[in-house]
Amino acid sequence: MTFPTSVRLVEVGPRDGLQNEPEAIATATKLELIDRLGAAGLAHIEAASFVSPKWVPQMADHREVMTGLTRRNGIVYSALTPNLKGLEAALECGVEEVAVFGAASEAFSQKNINCSVAESLKRFAPVLERAKAANVRVRGYVSCVLGCPYEGEIAPAKVAEVAKALFDMGCYEVSLGDTIGTGTPLKAKRMLEAVARDIPMDKLAAHFHDTYGQALANLYAVLEEGVAVIDSSVAGLGGCPYAKGASGNVASEDVVYLLDGLGIESGIDLDKLAETGHWITQAIGRPNRSKASVALASR
Ligand code: HMG
Ligand code: MG
Repeated sequence: MTFPTSVRLVEVGPRDGLQNEPEAIATATKLELIDRLGAAGLAHIEAASFVSPKWVPQMADHREVMTGLTRRNGIVYSALTPNLKGLEAALECGVEEVAVFGAASEAFSQKNINCSVAESLKRFAPVLERAKAANVRVRGYVSCVLGCPYEGEIAPAKVAEVAKALFDMGCYEVSLGDTIGTGTPLKAKRMLEAVARDIPMDKLAAHFHDTYGQALANLYAVLEEGVAVIDSSVAGLGGCPYAKGASGNVASEDVVYLLDGLGIESGIDLDKLAETGHWITQAIGRPNRSKASVALASR
């Protein structure tokens, strides 16, 4: 058992947490959310998504969000860019980090980004080249690492293959997405072992949705293996538009509570983060899915 001494949280609430909301959320609300998350100590915030507004209407104000946010020192504000068109728009907004997103499942790749896995990798190559020329770091996501809503079981070898392709292409970090939250701890460990044969552990991140209530258990399992980057969403907001029934990411507050209990440094002020979770869930009329946050509020 080799727990990391510190963990970096990547807060995906403003993107993954909000992208599936059917009612338009005001840009000002998104900007306030990003600002409050920064004030709570989150050092990496995924702020927006430069995807087609026809596919994901909630992210249509990506330019306004990216240019409107108040930058705090030491915080990385990143955005999803599935293709060159998205990257160019993001660069115009002064983005310093972007992410490409692929999948370990053919069917999910088709539904999510309208192309095969092989085709997606071909599209990402010029995105990485252009980003590198602009001095912009690129993160890579692999979706469906512990199951697919269309194909069911996904072989760890397939996850490893796509993750390696993204890493070899120049992604500085690969985030492993349990998009539909069907994973369990031993499966998560086995998948991670397969991926970590090709990619150093310190270049991997865990991105676990909590649909089946397993996300914290899965995180504990991969922390034991040495994963030190965790994606999470304030108040457990979210879901994927192309994975019906998938609920939000693991709640950031619950992750911080877990890390605090394990003596793992995260640099996050749990009280401020919990306040932010209560504020945003009230603002958009959603339940707060962080158990730690609800418990803290009722003390
Ligand atoms: P496409 O239809 O194959 O693309 O979509 P196209 O190149 O043929 O273009 C079609 C239209 O889209 C054109 O507009 C383009 O201009 C426009 P039209 O001529 O019809 O008016 N377009 C764009 N507009 C804005 N920004 C762009 C862009 N590119 C093309 N970047 C595309 C391909 C990838 C664009 C589309 O499938 C798409 O936007 N998909 C959205 C996918 C998405 O956002 N999914 C959710 C995020 S991923 C996720 O949640 C998983 C993750 O959290 C990890 C996990 O949990 O597993 C990351
Ligand atoms: Mg996700």
